[in-house]
Amino acid sequence: MGKVYITDHPLIQHKLTYIRDEATKTKDFRDLVDEVATLMAYEITRDLPLENIQVRTPVATADSRIISGRMLGLIPILRAGLGMVDGILKLIPAAKVGHIGLYRDPNTLQPVEYYVKLPTDVQERLLIVIDPMLATGGSANMAIEALKKRGCTQIKLMCLIAAPEGIQAVQQEHPDIDIYVAAIDDYLNDHGYIVPGLGDAGDRLFGTK
Ligand code: PRP
Ligand code: URA
Repeated sequence: MGKVYITDHPLIQHKLTYIRDEATKTKDFRDLVDEVATLMAYEITRDLPLENIQVRTPVATADSRIISGRMLGLIPILRAGLGMVDGILKLIPAAKVGHIGLYRDPNTLQPVEYYVKLPTDVQERLLIVIDPMLATGGSANMAIEALKKRGCTQIKLMCLIAAPEGIQAVQQEHPDIDIYVAAIDDYLNDHGYIVPGLGDAGDRLFGTK
């Protein structure tokens, strides 16, 4: 079974509080999501393998370490996942970015796929699927499935806020996937919104409501 990691660093929790706050306006919301994405990237890359190299300092030769040729791919689920991409690229600038476009049908709550564009060498990369919200888990499951269908085998999922229902759904359908979240909230309401959550992540990021 994949593990669930709650990234409970005080800076992440502090910023998440202001992300949740309905008084936080679009620009600040966007900046805070960007900052939390950077902090979460630090946690999600914690187990990247290292290799030893030597560098010449101004004083002597140092036995030192670098990340061992690991190629990463970021896979934001459109739209809201876009809000976390730049924050992660600040720490992992060499990562390639693939996009999976899904929207949730408001009546059925089922995800509908409308766009997939991935790096050509996507199968060789360690992929991080990014979406601020893991609600029913339908969107994350469909995105992971789209990657697996194309031969991808190393996939992690990064979300800001998850509902217990969403975590369970991903664990059931994709038991090989580790999930990184900043918070696990209480439940989903009748409209499929996470309670207390933060509202509609895409609308708050892009000012469309
Ligand atoms: C939101 C969110 C997730 C999805 C989560 O996207 O960004 O992708 O809902 O819900 P689920 O776990 O129940 O599938 P939405 O469909 O509102 O599209 P948007 O990002 O374009 O606003
Ligand atoms: N999508 C969102 O943007 N927010 C939720 O609470 C659930 C799904």
